[in-house]
Amino acid sequence: MESKVSIIRRLAKASRNPILFAQWFRGRLRHYLLWPLWPLRAIFERGWLENAFVALFVPRKSQIGGENVNVLRTLLKLTPPDARVLEIGTYFGEGSTRVFIDGLSNQASFFVMDKWSEYISTTDKAKARFYRIMDGISYFAATNTLRVIREAGRREDSPSITMIRRSCNDLFVRDGFFDLVFIDGSHYYQDVRTDIEFALRILKPGGIICGDDLEILPSANLAAVAKQNLDQDYVPNPDGLEFHPGVALAVYELLGTVEMKAGTWWKVTTK
Ligand SMILES: C[S@@+](CC[C@H](N)C(=O)[O-])C[C@H]1O[C@@H](n2cnc3c(N)ncnc32)[C@H](O)[C@@H]1O
Repeated sequence: MESKVSIIRRLAKASRNPILFAQWFRGRLRHYLLWPLWPLRAIFERGWLENAFVALFVPRKSQIGGENVNVLRTLLKLTPPDARVLEIGTYFGEGSTRVFIDGLSNQASFFVMDKWSEYISTTDKAKARFYRIMDGISYFAATNTLRVIREAGRREDSPSITMIRRSCNDLFVRDGFFDLVFIDGSHYYQDVRTDIEFALRILKPGGIICGDDLEILPSANLAAVAKQNLDQDYVPNPDGLEFHPGVALAVYELLGTVEMKAGTWWKVTTK
């Protein structure tokens, strides 16, 4: 807090000009009224309330785990130390984002991109509470990601990280810029298609396109089932195995054959 001497000195200076005096007085008033509220500010700035809300209402802050993590780590090893990597679909920044931050060197540039706004179809929202929750928590997901990035920025071995709140529909990136693009945004057909087309354009020749949520390697039969469920995130195929129709169909149409392990798919683009 300001000392009494300094307050008197500044008051004397300000009182020669009534406007300056009024401004000074207003500033002091605001300071003394707000100062006792610092515990409330701390709650918001440190995200305590958000963390409590998320702990109560969000079942999973990370949508990746187990074998998928190993696949991503292996793919990262194929990129150069100064790689440029783009992640489409970050959510809370606790899943694939952390794998990339940990796996990339401090010479690398990592870009996280997410719409952080509503995107779930009406059909899915009517189907399950999980989807309704997911659509309503983008603010919390974005602020958590910011915290993950700030935490990483304190580490010397962290890549440089850029956070982009956009979908690729309205983002300009020059052709051949990235070494690896990971697609885990919306799983609806048209969105995945757009993301794959975008990735193929911005990847260097020989770069890696990869993504999450391809449970079954696509075939003509699976594509036919997918076409009947384009407004749904996750449905069973005729054998009862659940899969993401939008991801399966878009990958099948645009990339043909891809490698896949535990739902993570990838392909190296032609040089
Ligand atoms: C499946 S979650 C991502 C999970 C995250 N990769 C992880 O490992 O935890 C999908 C995310 O994609 C975002 N999203 C949806 N549509 C998008 C789009 N068109 N472009 C970018 N992000 C999108 C959503 O806001 C959501 O946060």
